[in-house]
Amino acid sequence: MSRMQPIGAEGAAPHSAPGPGRVVLVGSGPGDPDLLTVKALKLLQTADVVLYDMLVAKPILDLINPAAVRIFVGKKGYGDTRPQDGINAQLIAQARLGRLTVRLKSGDPLIFGRAGEEIEACRAAGVPVEVVPGITSAQGAAARLTASLTHRMEARRLQYITGHDATGGLPESLDWRAIADPQATTVVYMPRRTIGELVRRALGAGLAAATPAIVAINATRPDERFAVSTLGDLARAVAATETPDPTLVLIGQALAHARLPEPVA
Ligand SMILES: C[S@@+](CC[C@H](N)C(=O)[O-])C[C@H]1O[C@@H](n2cnc3c(N)ncnc32)[C@H](O)[C@@H]1O
Repeated sequence: MSRMQPIGAEGAAPHSAPGPGRVVLVGSGPGDPDLLTVKALKLLQTADVVLYDMLVAKPILDLINPAAVRIFVGKKGYGDTRPQDGINAQLIAQARLGRLTVRLKSGDPLIFGRAGEEIEACRAAGVPVEVVPGITSAQGAAARLTASLTHRMEARRLQYITGHDATGGLPESLDWRAIADPQATTVVYMPRRTIGELVRRALGAGLAAATPAIVAINATRPDERFAVSTLGDLARAVAATETPDPTLVLIGQALAHARLPEPVA
C-alpha cells in the first residue's frame, strides 16, 4: 500500500543510521546561536527533517543540514497559524518514514511550547521521542542583565508564568498570592496583551508598586532591548516599546541588581 508523502517531504533521504525514525524536540535557545547546546547543534547538522517555529532565530536555521527538509510550522502564541494536530501528524509521518525528525522550538521545548501535546502524540503513535533542552528566554535575558534571579536575601522563589491562556486572556488560575510574594522573582512570558490587568491584580494582591521590573525584547539577539521599570509603571513601559517581537517581563527585588548590557556584538 502506498503511503502519502507529508507536505514538504519530497527529496528527503532517510537518515543513514539504522533503526526506525524518531522525533527529537530540540531547544534552540533565545536566539544567540552560541547558546545552542552541542547536542542540539549535532542534531541540526544530521537531521533529515526539521520542523521549526516562528521564533527560531535565522542564524540558527542557517546551521541546519543543507540536505534536510525544512518545514515551517509558524506557531506564534495563542494565535497559532497552523493547528497543533497537523504538526503532531507531520512529526509522526516523518518519523515513520525512517527519518531523524527534529522539532526545533525557541528557548527550551518544555517551557510554554506545547511540547506535552507533541510528546503524547508521538507516544500514542508508538514513535520514539526525545527532548534536548535549550536555554529558556528568561535565562537568556537574566544572563544578559547579569542578574541572579534567586539573589540571596532577595528571592526565594522563581516562577515562570504565562500572560495568556488559550483564549488570549490572562489565565484565571494564576496564583496571586505567589505572584505578590515580595521574595519571589516572576518572569512573565507573552505579557504584552494582558500586562495592564496583571499589574492591577499583582498590586491588588499586595506586591509593592516600587518592585523592580524589566522588559526584555529579543534577548540575546543583535536587536535586543531592555526597559527598566517598576511594577507600578510596567504597563506603560511595555506599551512604550510597541513591537511584535518576543517580549518577557521580569519582576522582583532581585532585578534591582541587574545591569543593562553592552549591545550584542
Ligand atoms: C511560545 S513561548 C516559547 C518560550 C520558549 N520555549 C522559551 O523557553 O523561551 C514564546 C514567548 O517566549 C518569550 N521569548 C522567546 N524568545 C525570547 C527572546 N529572545 N526575548 C524575549 N522573550 C522571548 C516571549 O514571551 C515569547 O512570546
